[in-house]
Amino acid sequence: MVKDLFERIKSDKGPLGKWADKAEGYYVFPKLEGPISNRMMFNGKTVVTWSINDYLGLANHPDVLKVDGESAAKDGMAYPMGARMMSGHTKYHEQLERECAEFVGKEASYLVNFGYQGMVSAIDALVSKDDIIVYDMDTHACIIDGVRLHAGKRFVYRHNDIESCEKNLKRATKMAEKTGGGILLVSEGVFGMRGEQGRLREIVALKEKYNFRLLVDDAHGFGTLGEGGRGTGFEQGVQDGIDVYFATFAKSMAGIGAFFAGDKDVVQYLQYNMRSQMFAKSLPMPMVKGALKRLDMIRTMPELKDKLWEITNALQSGLKEAGFDLGTTQTCITPVYLKGDIPEAMAMVHDLRENHGVFCSIVVYPVIPKGMIILRLIPTARHTIEDVNETIKAFTAIREKLENGTYKKIAEAIMTA
Ligand SMILES: Cc1ncc(COP(=O)(O)O)c(C=O)c1O
Repeated sequence: MVKDLFERIKSDKGPLGKWADKAEGYYVFPKLEGPISNRMMFNGKTVVTWSINDYLGLANHPDVLKVDGESAAKDGMAYPMGARMMSGHTKYHEQLERECAEFVGKEASYLVNFGYQGMVSAIDALVSKDDIIVYDMDTHACIIDGVRLHAGKRFVYRHNDIESCEKNLKRATKMAEKTGGGILLVSEGVFGMRGEQGRLREIVALKEKYNFRLLVDDAHGFGTLGEGGRGTGFEQGVQDGIDVYFATFAKSMAGIGAFFAGDKDVVQYLQYNMRSQMFAKSLPMPMVKGALKRLDMIRTMPELKDKLWEITNALQSGLKEAGFDLGTTQTCITPVYLKGDIPEAMAMVHDLRENHGVFCSIVVYPVIPKGMIILRLIPTARHTIEDVNETIKAFTAIREKLENGTYKKIAEAIMTA
């Protein structure tokens, strides 16, 4: 007898779904209200907001709102209709592609509607079954899911471990010699959870010994690192060694959409082979004109990146001085590592939000090992030194309660109630 498909869904809600009853609306799917800013409303209170990737503070800049609004009023959200290839192409899409390419020092670029879908689709397009993928263990879900579609071999290396990377490149080389294929190596420019930069300089240096092409997801590096915010490749002086560069508009650009950049022939290949774009509607005009405005502001307003780093440096040095462990971050992403179980983490975050007016993301098992808690802070150009000082004070207070067992007691009381 064939089982009802929904039988499993009802009994196994998935690793995150199983928390829905306890966590929804507060720890997951929280509603941050009011204009995007350093302080927003949560649960009826104003909180210092450290969980939004609006790195350069462009989300609510009046010039950005003006361009977005004018285009929405004039062009509507529908134009252009259809896929780029069929009827959804415009001179503005082309202009944005030219400007993105120029900004990141590449010959050409091509837009995708969402970074996630674009990345899955680009990996799918770049490799055939005879090719081999070598990738970092800690890469974003969009890379993992792109690799999942690959019909050929893949080798994963230990996170940011160049020895392990080289070992796997060697294995991939042997395999490719048999299959007659090539090798695609995929890394991130900035690893979004712990804030480390991908070791692009060392990876590019491996090109001297191995024949591979490098794809870099620079979602968090674009706008925040490198000269003028041109990304992690510029930061490390190896942009030319990146064969396919990717950035999303969802973070520093405070919009939606993404792009791939590289040599003209490779970009043209992606244009004609990325299924996520060939079979989906084109990016709507307000997103395109809005992205042009944002890119122009990134180019002409270096003070935005300077401010981001002023806040980042104040936050990170203040937290370190107060004795917090920030792990190995080399970017604005600021993870604060604490020890405790999930119920303690929930009680602590509740206290942080309700009594100290600080809102940040919380990361626990299974994303990180059991017993570890990461409170992840994303500084932006909108934050102030006052936000930083208040937050360090709040963090010092909650750490004391975590260490003296207060949150354990609160969590136990809730469990037994
Ligand atoms: C490293 C990385 N790559 C890709 C994406 C996906 O980008 P988008 O939000 O444009 O789909 C994200 C966003 O969370 C990301 O952090």
